[in-house]
Amino acid sequence: MPLVTSKEMFAKAYDGGYAVGAFNVNNMEIVQGITEAAREEKAPLILQVSKGARAYASHTYLFKLVEAAVIECPEIPIVLHLDHGPDFETCKSCIDGGFTSVMIDGSSYSFEENIEITRKVVEYAHERGVVVEGELGTLAGIEDDVNVSFEDSSYTRPEEVEEFVAKTGVDSLAIAIGTSHGAYKFTPEQCTRNEKGVLVPPPLRFDILEEVSRRLPGFPIVLHGASSVPPEYVKMINDNGGKMPDAVGIPEDELRKAATSSVCKINIDSDLRLTLTGTVRKFFADNPSKFDPREYLKPARANIKELVRHKLVHVLGCSGKA
Ligand code: G3H
Ligand code: 13P
Ligand code: ZN
Repeated sequence: MPLVTSKEMFAKAYDGGYAVGAFNVNNMEIVQGITEAAREEKAPLILQVSKGARAYASHTYLFKLVEAAVIECPEIPIVLHLDHGPDFETCKSCIDGGFTSVMIDGSSYSFEENIEITRKVVEYAHERGVVVEGELGTLAGIEDDVNVSFEDSSYTRPEEVEEFVAKTGVDSLAIAIGTSHGAYKFTPEQCTRNEKGVLVPPPLRFDILEEVSRRLPGFPIVLHGASSVPPEYVKMINDNGGKMPDAVGIPEDELRKAATSSVCKINIDSDLRLTLTGTVRKFFADNPSKFDPREYLKPARANIKELVRHKLVHVLGCSGKA
């Protein structure tokens, strides 16, 4: 089937008590690892492309890679989404260039400016059959060239969501309930340590999520910054020449709980990067004389596939929902 929008996908996810995985893609091996897992698990899928990904690989290469995945996986619905669209022009370029969904990230603007820029994107997108994700609240962490400190991050204010959705016409809303971008989601000072000395992050603000859902019945909510930062890949990186002390993510049981609520889309990027980097570092440590990219990218792609399968089955709950 051709690329689809997330409209029907989110309606089914909302009613079915699961979430669709939105995975960031930057190259062929990442696209293949994700889509092979989704095809085998018969899971609906969102592939998303950031401004940085377009700068790295170009719109055309990424679009054609996703087009190839659509041909290879005719049984599952796939959305091609712009992640963190920074301005109208970038959103327009992706809408004109075949994306079926865009995010306009106006979260760094005032409430009124966020409404204005988001409404402009929605008008352009809806006229062309494309859906739009907006954002209220500011996540901490690194995304593209923007680094938001913990002090500057802010939770979504539930009392703003109805006005924002009504005035903009967005199709889904990303909210800030304590998730964060990147592999260092919390400082050690923000965490406690369990009996094994492992950092345990502060719990997500499910009270905010519940209040947002109460105010927006039936409306799809999005969670960004939802990588769990798998300890086995952080260890693989650190055991093979890397240095990522105190990398910490969102516990998967919290994400599982979120997936059963009004959260219909969960964004995962850092876990893919950690998987690829850990696997390649280990390969080189084990095989110092090898230099064929196919040899080290093949196990990286295979491990991405297994990571994504795990997310689809055990975190998102969307296996078999295509
Ligand atoms: O939230 C941001 C995503 O992880 C994309 O990251 O801007 O480095 O491509 P990027
Ligand atoms: P992570 O850094 O937690 O993978 O978040 C990705 C994301 O939110 C992409 O928009
Ligand atoms: Zn994000």
